[in-house]
Order: sequence, then C-alpha cells, then structure tokens
Amino acid sequence: MLERELRAACERIAEMSSERPRGFVRTWFAPQAARELLGFGELVDDYINADVLRVVLGRAARSARRTTHFDLDFPREPQHEEYWCHKHKRVCRPVGEAAPFLRRYALDTLERIKAFSRVRARARAASVLHGDARELDFGGPFDGVVTSPPYPGLIDYHEQHRYAYELLGLDDCRQLEVGAGAAGTSRAALEAYSDGIVATFANVRHSLRPGAPVVVVVNDRRGLYPDILARSGLVEERRHRRHVNRRTGRRAGEYFEDVLVCRFH
Ligand SMILES: C[S@@+](CC[C@H](N)C(=O)[O-])C[C@H]1O[C@@H](n2cnc3c(N)ncnc32)[C@H](O)[C@@H]1O
Repeated sequence: MLERELRAACERIAEMSSERPRGFVRTWFAPQAARELLGFGELVDDYINADVLRVVLGRAARSARRTTHFDLDFPREPQHEEYWCHKHKRVCRPVGEAAPFLRRYALDTLERIKAFSRVRARARAASVLHGDARELDFGGPFDGVVTSPPYPGLIDYHEQHRYAYELLGLDDCRQLEVGAGAAGTSRAALEAYSDGIVATFANVRHSLRPGAPVVVVVNDRRGLYPDILARSGLVEERRHRRHVNRRTGRRAGEYFEDVLVCRFH
C-alpha cells in the first residue's frame, strides 16, 4: 500500500501548484522548484500515508533550496549564481527544480521504512509529542530518558528548518525554544537557559520509575551542567566521550560530545 501510494504521488509531481509562491518560499526556491513543492504539498492529503509524503516533501525542500552545497545548515542569503563548491571541488549551480529530489527521496524513504520494518520489534510503538519539554505530560512511567538538549547561543531550530514549517504549515513555537541562538549568550541568557533545562528535568522526573537513568548528550563548553545537574537533583555516574563525524556542512576542527549518565538521588 505504502509503495503504491508513493509511486502514485510521484507520477503526479508534474501537477504543479497554481498558487503563487510568496515570502520565504519565493525567496529560497527557484520558481519551478517552488511550484513543484507547493503542488506536492497540495496532493499529500489524498493519500492514507500522508505523513510519509510530508517527510518526503520536507527532505526534498531542504535539498532544493537556493543554497550552496557546502552550507545546508545555516545559509544566510539565497544563492542565485554559479559558485565554487568547497564540497565538490568544482563549479556548481543552485538548484532549479524540486521534482528530482521528490522522486529520489520518495524511493529513499521507502527503502528506509522497509529496512526498519525488517528489524523493529513488533510490540513496540513510538509516539512523537510536539510541545514544550518543560510542560508536556509525557505519560509513563518509563525506564529511562535519553536527551540531546539544545545549547545556548548556537542554533535557532525553527529558523534552521523554516522550509519545513512553511511548506507543511507547522505551528511556529520558536518563542518556546530553550537556549535559542537569537537569545545570545549574555549572563541573563545563560541563566534563562539553565532554568529551562532544570525545569525540563523536573518535569521529566514525574514520568520516570525510581532509579531510572537520565542520559544527556552535550558538549558543555561553558561548564553549565555541573550546576544544572546539582539544581535538578541529578548525580552524574559515568561520562563517555563521543567523536562526532562531520555530517552536513563544513565544521571547523574536531568536535566531541559527552554522554552523561545520571540518576535522580
Ligand atoms: C541538539 S537538538 C537535538 C535534536 C534531536 N536529537 C534530534 O535528533 O531530533 C535540541 C532540540 O531541542 C529542541 N528544543 C528547544 N527548546 C525546546 C523546548 N522548550 N521543548 C522541547 N524541545 C525543545 C530544539 O528544537 C532541538 O530540536
């Protein structure tokens, strides 16, 4: 069923939207790419597996933006002209169409879902909750928590994934981001960050069994976590260092993260 729907949706990629691209979509996508993405967005609700098609749309939109190949994470300006590409070591040109990406990601997403369904445990389910971790009711009780929290002054997550918010019509909750890049790293901003993470741990605690591990993945370059853990009533039991390989974009130098294994005392 999933495969049939994905193939059927791909056949309809040529049905471009008649909606005029505006705002962000008009700025960051070439005219044809914008109409293809908007058109695909209009047809997803015709299918039972609409959520899978939304994933395909989001992935295609990320790749089809008018960015350079070496700066997919934080592009500042749309790229209109040919440019020297540090990633491919040749002259590249910005993307004009989204259709090839929509097709490629439809097949790729299908393959990933098939591969995962071969190994997943039948009785397990995953639920995704969208909301503020300081206040969400997570349910439970659970055996443990693994979290990769934001870190102050680095990333504005809503802005980084703006293409998806715009094309999928998702709720913009940027004012709830803890440690947003835009908030900076003033003393007040760092305090607000620490308060936000302490409030999150206090909330999560209600959903954990006694003695459950709390695993925190972080590069604590500002040394904020000893205080955050102490204020939260968490004791660090072990720490593992992890080398993060370059994924997208160019990162200056080596990058390490620590995995802190903690428990509430
Ligand atoms: C370092 S990233 C971790 C991403 C995650 N590991 C993943 O693969 O999707 C930190 C995440 O925390 C989210 N975040 C920031 N403030 C939040 C809040 N108040 N409630 C829930 N999530 C928040 C950010 O949007 C971002 O997705």
